[in-house]
Amino acid sequence: MLQTAADPATTTRSPRLTVIGTGYLGATHAICMAVLGMEVLGVDVDAEKTARLAAGEVPFFEPGLPELLRKALDSGRLRFTTDFEEAGAFGDVHFLCVGTPQTKGSDAADLTYVRAATAALARHLDRPALVVGKSTVPVGTAAELTEMLHALAPAGTQVELAWNPEFLREGFAVEDTMNPDRLVFGVSSPSAEAVLRAAFAPVLDMHDTPVVVTDLETAELVKVAANSFLATKISYINAMAEVCEATGADVTALAKALSYDSRIGGKFLRPGLGFGGGCLPKDIRAFRHRATELGAGQAVAFLGEVDAINRRRRARTVDLVRELAGGDLSGVRVAAWGAAFKPDSDDIRDAPALDVADALQRAGAHVTVYDPVAMDNARRDYPQLRYATSAMGAASGADVVVLLTEWTQFREVDPQLLGKVVRQRQVVDGRHALDPVAWRAAGWTYRALGRP
Ligand code: UDX
Repeated sequence: MLQTAADPATTTRSPRLTVIGTGYLGATHAICMAVLGMEVLGVDVDAEKTARLAAGEVPFFEPGLPELLRKALDSGRLRFTTDFEEAGAFGDVHFLCVGTPQTKGSDAADLTYVRAATAALARHLDRPALVVGKSTVPVGTAAELTEMLHALAPAGTQVELAWNPEFLREGFAVEDTMNPDRLVFGVSSPSAEAVLRAAFAPVLDMHDTPVVVTDLETAELVKVAANSFLATKISYINAMAEVCEATGADVTALAKALSYDSRIGGKFLRPGLGFGGGCLPKDIRAFRHRATELGAGQAVAFLGEVDAINRRRRARTVDLVRELAGGDLSGVRVAAWGAAFKPDSDDIRDAPALDVADALQRAGAHVTVYDPVAMDNARRDYPQLRYATSAMGAASGADVVVLLTEWTQFREVDPQLLGKVVRQRQVVDGRHALDPVAWRAAGWTYRALGRP
């Protein structure tokens, strides 16, 4: 059994934490742990990112996080650096929070950043320490990284690896980090579990958080299994929407009726344009890819269908707009409401909204986009689209309004008032966010996926 981070120093005081990778996951984890009383050093190779964070600026949109960053910096418990030597000297527990995006031209997860961060840190680990992976990785990565740590770290096998998958949702990142549904500790020794319990002591002292202690492989799998389940649930109800479309049934009433069965439940059963973002789409693809490598591809082949159903929602939304436009999109003015992959986020990674807006534009429509917070990101990646400064502005003179991200401000629009600025009262509700009765009463032609 390894001696690990049972460093005499850490038995008398709280372990000092480093958080490597200060993107969405890492910045949130670092800030929240410091607010909860831990000494934290955030580490990133991007000097601009660390400088902005050190100056009190959160580089992405997340409700509540800027206030907590200020609080953490004021407490003196949170600092940022680009120096791995400093990280090695400072930390007892090192959280790996770097990204694992989809590889270009493949479904596999790209492990470049995980490997680079582990190697850069390992060279400066000259005393017992615990490295804790949080990134979403293909099962088997922890075993590879353990070998790397033992080979490269001056402290050799006194450096141990654990896996602690992260389940935070964008928009609820603070709540999910401070008061998680569960903590999963993938460990290879009791001492690693003890160090993790010490690192999470403020969370565990405050809440009755269930802790599931597993081996490394199970911990790696928990994350992709959870995201696959959520994606499957969304695609399931969207598959029902396709059947509803073929029969004239109403998928929203169907989903409501299903949701009262407590075995099914109503969460992640909202039909519409489907899932996007930096996690669900790439995670189901990487999971299928990894399972196939391991000879278990057949077991998760259904995830290919989950992905296909999800992609069809985007194409079908474009079709609905085309139908309203009389079969041809050339020259049709479309107001695209929403760019972020979901409300309360400025994240446009694999955003269904921008995919649809772009497809409409390529089919000849003149598309004007508005999103409450994701405009800068959208403009950067989709410069070919037009942008307005308000929902009303985007809709001005439009032939079709298409709601693509269900921000509250879109839900609350008065269809009478909006009717005065558009050229034609035609709306496609891509997220089942509007009340068809009120919109139809205001003279609108209302269309939504899976509804008559
Ligand atoms: C997800 C997981 O929920 C989280 O646990 C994991 O750590 C990261 O991935 P996130 O990507 O922030 O979190 O978004 P989530 O709230 O899960 O939504 C994902 C996508 O599904 C969004 O595009 C959303 O619009 C869509 N969705 C969600 C639906 O289409 N229908 C639903 O019923 C729920």
